[in-house]
Amino acid sequence: MNKIKKAVIPAAGLGTRFLPATKSVPKEMLPIVDKPTLLYVVEEAVAAGIEDIIIIAGRGKTAIENFFDTNYELEDLLEKSGKFELLEEIKSISNMANIISIRQREAKGLGHAVYCSKPIVGNESFAVLLGDEITFPKDSYDYVTKELISLYDEQTTSCVSVMEVPKEKVNKYGIIDFEMLNTSYKNLDILNVKNIIEKPSPQEAPSCFALPGRYVFNSTIFSHIEETKPGKNNEIQLTDAMVKLIRNEKLYALNVPNKRYDAGDKFGFIKANIDLALEREDIGPQLKEYLKNL
Ligand code: G1P
Repeated sequence: MNKIKKAVIPAAGLGTRFLPATKSVPKEMLPIVDKPTLLYVVEEAVAAGIEDIIIIAGRGKTAIENFFDTNYELEDLLEKSGKFELLEEIKSISNMANIISIRQREAKGLGHAVYCSKPIVGNESFAVLLGDEITFPKDSYDYVTKELISLYDEQTTSCVSVMEVPKEKVNKYGIIDFEMLNTSYKNLDILNVKNIIEKPSPQEAPSCFALPGRYVFNSTIFSHIEETKPGKNNEIQLTDAMVKLIRNEKLYALNVPNKRYDAGDKFGFIKANIDLALEREDIGPQLKEYLKNL
């Protein structure tokens, strides 16, 4: 039985990389084919057994709350026009989990955003999913959040997902220093995290293993965030709090083979749109033909 039932999704970023679209539409609501990016992240959490999803939103993000709320007018319209399949899909969005929205009043960084969930999470362990990354199961591996939660259940230790990035991209991520454990999880090496540097230069980077934005934490992380001073870019960094956590308890990392897209990046976002559209029965064949003739 998995003990982790709560997940935090920070969604308070300004989305400057997608301006002008994000001037009035939260970046988490930008669609990949016909679903907002955030819904893919919520689906990953639900597939991992999460029941309560705490969305940390900023100003101007009411579209997110509305999306997960019931829309009676729309449901009535779909019912009257006999669009029952669509009606079921729309209704299932409001019923998939308990969505709790918390306002981060000031953009003080990712560590601070996660800290805003403390009144709801309390003493429980919890997952964190960053909305820029969307992932899908691959080969014999499930969604990365589900695999991290299983690892947590096995080891009762905070754990994170990592991925290997080219040296010239280390400055976009938190980068870990680690040693390999003798045990493995589903044929994957378990890395014992020794240190993390937030967005290092290629020269400073202790490895090429980056944090793509999936974490499972003991609630002790909150006290470490409390003690974390603003760091890189004058923000309260989650990675700095994780470094404090490592001094007191173990933090494991797993490189789960998953299909992943960096939806926070324009090229990654377009790639996700193309790949997911190609998989769709309704538009896939047409798009394939179009791309072939380009
Ligand atoms: C944040 C984290 C960083 C992580 C990254 C993943 O940075 O601070 O450690 O690797 O997300 O996307 P951001 O992209 O918000 O600047």
